[in-house]
Amino acid sequence: MKPLADKIALVTGASHPKGIGSAIARKLASLGATLVITDLQQTSDQLDAAVAELEAAGATAIAKIVDVTSTEEVTRSVAEVIEQFGTIDILVNNAGVGGGTGAFLESTNQQFELAYQVNVRGVANMCRAVIPAMLTQGSGAIVNIASLCGLGAIEDIPASYTASKFAAVGLTKAIALEYASRGIRCNAVCPGVVNTDMRVQLMDRLAEQYDITPEEAERRENETIAIGRGAEASEVADAVAYLLGPGAKYITGVTMPVAGGMAPGL
Ligand SMILES: NC(=O)c1ccc[n+]([C@@H]2O[C@H](COP(=O)([O-])OP(=O)(O)OC[C@H]3O[C@@H](n4cnc5c(N)ncnc54)[C@H](O)[C@@H]3O)[C@@H](O)[C@H]2O)c1
Repeated sequence: MKPLADKIALVTGASHPKGIGSAIARKLASLGATLVITDLQQTSDQLDAAVAELEAAGATAIAKIVDVTSTEEVTRSVAEVIEQFGTIDILVNNAGVGGGTGAFLESTNQQFELAYQVNVRGVANMCRAVIPAMLTQGSGAIVNIASLCGLGAIEDIPASYTASKFAAVGLTKAIALEYASRGIRCNAVCPGVVNTDMRVQLMDRLAEQYDITPEEAERRENETIAIGRGAEASEVADAVAYLLGPGAKYITGVTMPVAGGMAPGL
């Protein structure tokens, strides 16, 4: 029997075919989980395509439009999933925003607000909606996709993003501590550099900032990674699956770097 057979897993921000969320969904489906993948309204075509891909691979999957910053939308959607499947065993809070300037004095309140709303409040909203069902059944596993920037400040990364990911790490530990004795584990995965669109956007910004090509920006960044390259999204998904699976049943409250030996900064 597959290790996640009979498990209902919800993954947020999982529409983009090259994103970390869809890689996690594919990995959990391959381990036998039933998938609920969610993302913003504007991604609905991609979400439908992701469901079709999961179903073609033999999984049961549905899509839901959920803006994680909306408590109302989150509450309603989670209730619908529980109505349909009976529970939620696994929650992966992957939805996140990067963006904005790396120069602190040029940063705006709007940039801070967006990072906080999505990367922190979004995680809290989802956890508040899902944990009651996990408490009822006395078990559940949560993984929050934070960042290496949640463990230390890294050059050229916006302070708003770094602050929000530190907060996501704090939230992970607080939830882990509060619910450990009631069968719920909560951990964070902290990717360093991952070859998704988020990295492409960062390389474009750094290329402009330093008047170099995006390829040169990527080469310079790769030099800061001991393994010498960015991770594939599937390599992050492997770590997430481990923390969610039976092999990690005694692990809670950890922040696992998946960073190829990249130093977490200051
Ligand atoms: N790519 C990297 O190098 C890297 C490194 C460290 C951490 N991360 C984290 O990994 C996660 C996934 O990032 P990715 O690289 O796959 O980027 P991505 O942009 O492909 O994925 C992020 C997803 O979140 C969704 N999203 C944004 N705001 C949302 C909201 N309000 N409600 C619901 N969904 C929302 C987006 O639509 C998108 O599908 C993020 O939390 C990111 O911070 C990425």
